[in-house]
Amino acid sequence: MPLLDVRGLWMKFGSLAANRDVSFSVEEGQIVGLIGPNGSGKTTLFNCVSGLYRPTSGRVTFAGKDVTGLPMHSIARMGLVRTFQVVRPLSEMTVLENVLVGAYLRNSDEDKARETAEACIKLCFLEEWRNRPAGAMTIGNKKRLEVARALATSPKLVLLDEAVAGLTSTEVNEMVELIVGLKRDGKTILMVEHIMEAIMPISDKVVVLNGGGKIAEGPPREISRNAEVMTAYLGEKFSKRLAESGVLKEDRP
Ligand SMILES: Nc1ncnc2c1ncn2[C@@H]1O[C@H](COP(=O)(O)OP(=O)(O)O)[C@@H](O)[C@H]1O
Ligand SMILES: [Mg+2]
Repeated sequence: MPLLDVRGLWMKFGSLAANRDVSFSVEEGQIVGLIGPNGSGKTTLFNCVSGLYRPTSGRVTFAGKDVTGLPMHSIARMGLVRTFQVVRPLSEMTVLENVLVGAYLRNSDEDKARETAEACIKLCFLEEWRNRPAGAMTIGNKKRLEVARALATSPKLVLLDEAVAGLTSTEVNEMVELIVGLKRDGKTILMVEHIMEAIMPISDKVVVLNGGGKIAEGPPREISRNAEVMTAYLGEKFSKRLAESGVLKEDRP
């Protein structure tokens, strides 16, 4: 049984179908990449899966339970949490206070919540910012805070929406290391990303959206050679370079 299963998901805004009949699943312990051009429906899909939106139709199953249309906090309590593409920390509050908001979701015990929050701050390289207001930080630190707040809910599955967009190359590498570390610790990751060099080498599987629908799904190497994906998103030159780079996981056995 996959940890997450999305079946026939549609999300319509008036006459626009931002997601059209999307189906895919995420196995426990995997890193799955969700890619596609701007406006292809990636964030909308995250909004539907995480409970921010109620999908027009279709089903979302998490850990064997139908969570379609449940509110975001209920889904988060079950262990599915997401970060936002546009990070909006509680600016006046300190980094610690922001992360505590996440920690309290699944911990009613004050000491336990604090312990969890401190561990997540450390994990996300935010110790020196611990007592500073979140609003004063750089975008790189805000993105890390977003991840720390999500991790503080002790999730099984983390949805990362462009967690490395806008970061310096050093920060990108740190974030990638962090994500790989999460997988090592047994977490499952579904991540949206435009920086192919960051997402492709660490993904076990890649799902590609275009115009709201899924156009491809498979191991990164297969995806990098997929003609439709090349046309819709990656471009031929880039695909070739990626396929030949030797950093992508092997094709299906
Ligand atoms: N709340 C909304 N109301 C109306 N249209 C929306 C809404 N959210 C997203 N859309 C539209 O849905 C499409 C997909 O958007 P989005 O999911 O943000 O794409 P992506 O994250 O892949 O860039 C876009 O055409 C966008 O304008
Ligand atoms: Mg988006």
